[in-house]
Amino acid sequence: GYDASPFVPARGGLKALREAAAGCRGCPLHREATQTVFGAGDSSARLLLVGEQPGDQEDRKGRPFVGPAGGVLDRALEEAGIDPGDTYVTNAVKHFKFTRTGPGKRRIHKAPDLREMRACRPWLAAEVRLVDPEVVVALGATAGKALLGPSFRVTRDRGVALPLPPLDGADGEDAGEGVLVATLHPSAVLRADDEQRAQAYAGLVADLRVVAGLLS
Ligand code: URA
Ligand code: SF4
Repeated sequence: GYDASPFVPARGGLKALREAAAGCRGCPLHREATQTVFGAGDSSARLLLVGEQPGDQEDRKGRPFVGPAGGVLDRALEEAGIDPGDTYVTNAVKHFKFTRTGPGKRRIHKAPDLREMRACRPWLAAEVRLVDPEVVVALGATAGKALLGPSFRVTRDRGVALPLPPLDGADGEDAGEGVLVATLHPSAVLRADDEQRAQAYAGLVADLRVVAGLLS
């Protein structure tokens, strides 16, 4: 099956990980995407945020959350009292998955499936292990499922501190005392109807205030 594990170096830091991830062929998503979009930010951050997968702009630029969703995220973080510069941001899946409406047409985001999420998880597990944050934030359903399993539901599980389960089968000491908080994906704010957008955004900020409280 699909699996990034053979590409993940057994030792080394985030730099070694990032370099290796550039050559990952663990699932078919690397074929159509421009490049691997690895996590970025403060490598010793107390807060690690996990999105779904890179979008169109992230795929071109090679950095997570540099498009419209990243704009919403940074604004919400600041409003919640968190400096975006003090965080590490990454995605559950490291390659952009999309469909085209026709030759040369716009690329439309397509949600990764369970096999792709599972294939890519060793990268996320290694990032969480190396950054070793106090709090992990799952942005939306894909990140929530990647971190907590397929029974995760955003509406039910958001805005509260949950124990972060071990991601790479580690147990005992390595399991850590991590905490996870789930919230909406910032793209859900952008996709919401006019009447619901302000409320969705306020919900995102409220959940991030819970995170800020855990870090203070
Ligand atoms: N959406 C995500 O989930 N991640 C990004 O990096 C950009 C948009
Ligand atoms: Fe590897 Fe993840 Fe890209 Fe698939 S999506 S090729 S597992 S980095």
